[in-house]
Amino acid sequence: MAERLIEKLRRVDPDYYIPERVERIEEQLERIRRLKRERNAVLLAHNYQRPEIFEVADFTGDSLGLSLQAADVEGADVIVFCGVHFMAETAKTVSPQKTVLLPNLAAGCSLADTATAPAVEDRVRELKKTYPDLAVVTYVNTTAAVKALSDVCCTSSNAVSVVRAIPSQHILFIPDQNLARHVALHVPEKTIIAWDGYCYVHHQITPDVIESMRRQIPGIKILVHPECRDDVLKLADAALSTSGMIDFAKQSSATDFLAVTECGLSDMLQIGVPEKHFYRACKICRFMKAISLDDVETSLTKMQFKIELEESVRERAGRAIQRMFELTGSVRDNLAIPDSVPDE
Ligand code: 13P
Ligand code: SF4
Repeated sequence: MAERLIEKLRRVDPDYYIPERVERIEEQLERIRRLKRERNAVLLAHNYQRPEIFEVADFTGDSLGLSLQAADVEGADVIVFCGVHFMAETAKTVSPQKTVLLPNLAAGCSLADTATAPAVEDRVRELKKTYPDLAVVTYVNTTAAVKALSDVCCTSSNAVSVVRAIPSQHILFIPDQNLARHVALHVPEKTIIAWDGYCYVHHQITPDVIESMRRQIPGIKILVHPECRDDVLKLADAALSTSGMIDFAKQSSATDFLAVTECGLSDMLQIGVPEKHFYRACKICRFMKAISLDDVETSLTKMQFKIELEESVRERAGRAIQRMFELTGSVRDNLAIPDSVPDE
């Protein structure tokens, strides 16, 4: 058993995943599988997580996929969320009857932190004086309190369709300025007012590394996350969410790829699609990498750290998520959100 895991993890980093370490990992994975059964828990892992966490994950995916999974989980009492805080909040929003655990509270998101609820309230009040039809669109990388102040939520994979479908002409797009610019390019008929946040991981990736890779490897496909700067996005063969990149790499006849995003995605691709080659122009997200297997084991042992949301915030945030599904033609009737949420 350990041989199979050694062979798999070595594809990511042969210097780190040495046999002795992988054997210890294998023993810990067994303990975690036992705890999951005892707690009747499922484990959801974002595509940027550490490779050993994928080994105990029931589902892996991007922000959109994981929020759908959280709503669809049946029969479990507990969701262990290996991702970041706002994603665990989304899981709690759509699955309030379940205990949602985030194994390490350091797994925040500096992009989400750029938009606080009071600052958003002030900005919306100010902008509505000039644009009475203003709609507030929140990228899923926001706290539940900020989603609760918005008309509709979106993810990197559906931001363009959500903004196109919303009836308003003026849109306040929170919090990522790069994604806002990408949306504005694809929906030129609307006025997009961008919040000034950015993701420190994607924003530091520059065009030179991509240009040099294109020169060195003819035929390489460049897949870029829309949180990247526009001068980087311009060089992409495709701008995709993390799961979009995985699907693209699996379906494409090309053999060489550069996934321009957090490094976990390249690790996942190197494990999942071993017959193709994934070059790296990626950066590490310290928040996504905050969760270790030790944290997962402790989380299930001590049932920590529980995500709790005030019911009125949950209902309003849930309405924004529900609206996202309505606008993109994928109505969900299992989100535990009332049809209408009364104004405060
Ligand atoms: P995805 O929704 O594409 O997985 O992205 C989440 C994220 O945090 C990107 O930094
Ligand atoms: Fe937040 Fe960026 Fe990390 Fe994604 S990669 S969790 S947006 S800091």
